[in-house]
Amino acid sequence: MPDRYAVIGHPIAHSKSPFIHGLFAQATGQDMVYEAIDGGAEPGGFERALAAFRAAGGRGMNVTLPFKLAALAVADSASEDARLAGAANTLSFEGGRIEARNTDGIGLVRDIEVNLGLPLAGRRVLLLGAGGATRGAVRPIARAGAARIVIANRTADKAEALAAELAPHLGGVPLVGCGLAALGTQGAFDVVINATSASLDGQAPAVPAGAFAPGALAYDMVYGKGLTPFLRLARQAGCARLADGVGMLVEQAAEAFAAWRGVRPDTREALARLTVPLA
Ligand code: ATR
Repeated sequence: MPDRYAVIGHPIAHSKSPFIHGLFAQATGQDMVYEAIDGGAEPGGFERALAAFRAAGGRGMNVTLPFKLAALAVADSASEDARLAGAANTLSFEGGRIEARNTDGIGLVRDIEVNLGLPLAGRRVLLLGAGGATRGAVRPIARAGAARIVIANRTADKAEALAAELAPHLGGVPLVGCGLAALGTQGAFDVVINATSASLDGQAPAVPAGAFAPGALAYDMVYGKGLTPFLRLARQAGCARLADGVGMLVEQAAEAFAAWRGVRPDTREALARLTVPLA
């Protein structure tokens, strides 16, 4: 019997995870199956689907919107990244226990450092947005040795509160939170990451052109949408290095796969198959 894994979310039909993990399993020769489960919109739907999957012998789950907070809540133990993110995207079912991880931030860092060839050590990093996506990214970026991190948000209070909460856990890497409107006073950044949901509404966060240092990377966490309003804004500001979040998607999956199976899959084929040109 192959080992069973799944991704759970609502909605879930759009998920690329079964495709990605299917490629990884084939390439590494792992005897496993990976399915998609819709947790539904009813209260308790996630917990019921999770219990049924475990009872049927499931070994692990990826968790996507809107269940990442609930996934952390049901866990018996959680990685430091998951605890600080306040959310989990990877669950392992081991000996009657549920272990939670959050591999999103590690996936982002691997994509930037390995796939895009930009080591984060010594870099100035700007994160746009103060929601869950930013929350999960800050600690892995600090661990990679960023020189300083700024969180800028449309609602300044949220960025300030998040920075105050996370700053003590970053091993001394300076972290500042501010409003987008105050970005003019923060200087330029080597990496500017859009972790807002603005792209999904066809909008871009209002980032001044001066935020992009010469040679900066502009990174939009959304994927498969071509040149998003944020990437277009970055290009107009003179930024030539543009990336969307397809690599983050593939690398967070690889990190989950490695945690479950003890084998790190090569991500190049999945990346090549899922990349949509930025045009
Ligand atoms: P997630 O968990 O995916 O990060 P979220 O918690 O709903 O989602 O956060 C969405 C983020 O995108 C917030 O930081 C939001 O800014 P506010 O806190 O001011 O609401 C940001 N956002 C959404 N639309 C935006 C827009 N058009 N311009 C700038 N920021 C936007």
